[in-house]
Amino acid sequence: MTNVKFPKDFIWGVATASYQIEGSPLADGAGPSIWHRFTHTPGTIHDGDTGDVACDHYRRYREDVALMKSLGIKGYRFSISWPRIFPKGKGRINERGLAFYDRLIDELLKAGITPFVTIYHWDLPAALQDIGGWTNRDIAYWFSDYADYLFQRLGDRVKHWITLNEPWATAFVGHLFGEHAPGMKDIFSAFAVVHNELRAHSKAVEAFRDENIEGKIGITLSNHSMKPASQNEKDLTTARVAHEFTNYPLFLDPIYKGLYPETLSHIVEEYMPKDYLQDMDEIKRPIDFVGINYYSGSLVRFNPEKPFGLETLDHGLPKTEMGWEIYPEGLYEMLKGVQEDYDPGEVFITENGAAFKDVVEDGQVHDRERIDYLRAHFTQAHRAIKDGVRLRGYFVWTLMDNFEWAYGYSKRFGIVYTDYKTQERIVKDSGKWYANVISENSVTSE
Ligand code: FCB
Repeated sequence: MTNVKFPKDFIWGVATASYQIEGSPLADGAGPSIWHRFTHTPGTIHDGDTGDVACDHYRRYREDVALMKSLGIKGYRFSISWPRIFPKGKGRINERGLAFYDRLIDELLKAGITPFVTIYHWDLPAALQDIGGWTNRDIAYWFSDYADYLFQRLGDRVKHWITLNEPWATAFVGHLFGEHAPGMKDIFSAFAVVHNELRAHSKAVEAFRDENIEGKIGITLSNHSMKPASQNEKDLTTARVAHEFTNYPLFLDPIYKGLYPETLSHIVEEYMPKDYLQDMDEIKRPIDFVGINYYSGSLVRFNPEKPFGLETLDHGLPKTEMGWEIYPEGLYEMLKGVQEDYDPGEVFITENGAAFKDVVEDGQVHDRERIDYLRAHFTQAHRAIKDGVRLRGYFVWTLMDNFEWAYGYSKRFGIVYTDYKTQERIVKDSGKWYANVISENSVTSE
């Protein structure tokens, strides 16, 4: 048994997102989001589930903050729903929508919990989708105006801002695979979205600097470890392309270097909007931290029969309920890679966690597998810190079971169990275990 101690002031947190937990999507003057529209389109979501009620957090946020406090949670990453603030995405402001986040932030601060705000976690105002959404170049202005308003109104209390959550997923899962809102299947749109997301991110960072408020701003990127299946030259190259396309380099190369990754030039030249190069200087702009989301990994092999010659294989490791292989070393690889490639001032793990089939027995949930998953990943995070990564915090996905996008309520990622019939919250064994990790500021590996 070894015990690893984390740095003093390490921020142990949990993460959520507005559409996944809040419910009441149209309350108090909010406009519909693309996720509201998507979930109300038959055939899109497992079992026809919607975010209409979710965890009813919009009305129960006080209890939820108290719950976090009881677990000793130090940081809470949540997102703001754009159409609550701007029902049509731009123009008229809805003060009642902002008031909800005002109250939530005050409640967090009273509980001694540091708020980390994600400005965009996928619930685009539907009215903006009607004029092209993320494929419209003007979104850089719509987004930065919205972000700027949040800086002005909440910047006195919020000191950590994340512009976008997983822009890759918005682009490809939403615009190429059609599995997320807005449900499009067009590769040119997907690449236009990547580019406009970067422009929007950058404009928001510019607005943040112009406001001259105290605080830090960064971006959160999705990552899936892509290791070569062999040392064969073709597998090595394919794995590198897969990594640079799927993971942080697609976004951080433009942000830090003003260029898309060179290994992707054949793909970029073919699918990016044709004048994309003109925007690269503007996209390149310093940020204060990088947020890493990490869940799983695969092996990569070159296979000429597959699109882009890319085939992914299993490592042969145990899987979570999502069918995702448990590969904790991949978290270390991502953290180390980010530090070496860009040397960001700070790094946060903004999401990591696992879905398992949880059962309630006598009012308890014995989720041993989730504890093992978290323990293994915490240990890799510690290893990364020891090896020089400026990792400042870790946000477990997620506080409580919630609406898991296309999977509806069928996948449970929480360290707290949500009973969707009664809205009762039951702290799982993993939640109790995490509370102990936080209070000791250390992890014991077995
Ligand atoms: C990430 C999302 C988050 C959650 C987890 C499981 O891709 O950012 O909202 O659904 O996956």
